[in-house]
Amino acid sequence: MQFTANNLEHHWMPFTANRAFKNDPRIIVKGEGVYFTDHHGAQIIDGSSSLFCCPLGHGRKEIAEAVYNQLLENDYASPFGSGTPGTFELAQKVARITPDEINHVFFVNSGSESIDTALKMAMAYHRARGEGQRTRFVSRERAYHGVNIGGVSLSGMVKNRETFSGVMPNVVCMRHTWDEDQAFSRGQREGGVELANDLERFCETYGGTTIAAVFVEPIAGSTGCLVPPKGYLERLREICDEHGILLVFDEVITGFGRTGSAFASQQFGVTPDIMTMAKALTNGAQPMGAVAVRDDVYKTITEAAPENAIEFFHGYTYSGHPAACAASIAVQDIFQNENLFERANDLSEYFLDGLYSLQDLDCVRDIRGYGLIGAVELKPVGGPGARGGAAQVALFKKGMHVKFTGDSGIVAPPFISEKSHIDEMMDKMRAMLSEI
Ligand SMILES: Cc1ncc(COP(=O)(O)O)c(C=O)c1O
Repeated sequence: MQFTANNLEHHWMPFTANRAFKNDPRIIVKGEGVYFTDHHGAQIIDGSSSLFCCPLGHGRKEIAEAVYNQLLENDYASPFGSGTPGTFELAQKVARITPDEINHVFFVNSGSESIDTALKMAMAYHRARGEGQRTRFVSRERAYHGVNIGGVSLSGMVKNRETFSGVMPNVVCMRHTWDEDQAFSRGQREGGVELANDLERFCETYGGTTIAAVFVEPIAGSTGCLVPPKGYLERLREICDEHGILLVFDEVITGFGRTGSAFASQQFGVTPDIMTMAKALTNGAQPMGAVAVRDDVYKTITEAAPENAIEFFHGYTYSGHPAACAASIAVQDIFQNENLFERANDLSEYFLDGLYSLQDLDCVRDIRGYGLIGAVELKPVGGPGARGGAAQVALFKKGMHVKFTGDSGIVAPPFISEKSHIDEMMDKMRAMLSEI
């Protein structure tokens, strides 16, 4: 295929400046290890594990073979009222690495669906307990919880919601956790308790017994890696316990080792009631998400229904698709056999040293990071996001892929990266940032 504007026209690309892209396309034709090859044959280092999906890098044979074999064995069967072996095996594997109290896993096909599912679980849980009056949800400014109506309702990013006014009512946002005065400080910054007390204020304003759940990304990823300030997650947990509110951690980015532990929940020592996950669940090789819940959330919902009745009227045609389960089982085995969460943890200091070394550049406004995820935020020029968009294209042309949101480039290397790959990423970032 010739990648001319004419040939590209029919595909309406997601979250992309379609017209600009089609005049100057960047098409990735191959992925192997930490590198892509583009349609000109250029090598591109994958600085964001694509969209934070591919900690194992690209082209893993074990995953491809697992999917191939599964499709020959049993390509698809209804997940409603019958089962396939992979869902049970995978749920067990996931439950083994979630916090001790969280042992029940519901499969979906994306992060956005995991959020819708978690919203419904929260509603079902409270209703089962006779507290159906809890109809309010709390989210946070700058939050990203995907693009379905549930996720957009919880969204704290203006561009993702300003066009779509018909979203769920009764969602209030706590303040975001970015503080310009603490720019360039590393790891968890100060002031978490005071920010988390926003939730207490909502309880005072709306009544704690009207709030069903609080959704937070433990590290706000898509907005540019906002690490939870000290005491923040702990204080949210306390307030939720006090008022009977469910705490939901959206671990779609932070799950599966990105912070150095299996989940951010363990890394920060705070256990939510519900966790959403996707992306690295299959290393991006198959679309899949999951929602894992505390045992009593599962029991409360299932035991409220009559014997032999469906307990939770929710599920997707492709929930726990056999090919996705096969991919994810292979991925979980690789994580374990190659000790990759530990490797991510070990590589973190080196990665963060490299990232923070960029702070001398004039165009840089802040650098944040934790584990194997970090962001370089640029001083805006020409309106919010304009410089970030240009930086993403310029960096690609220098041979590196980084996901920019607004003016923040979010760097999240594959866990299989060597130190030399981190060096290459930082050199390419520096070269690009010196020119824009
Ligand atoms: C924290 C978080 N939640 C939800 C989503 C939505 O996931 P998906 O794009 O798979 O629907 C994302 C995607 O980036 C995310 O970062």
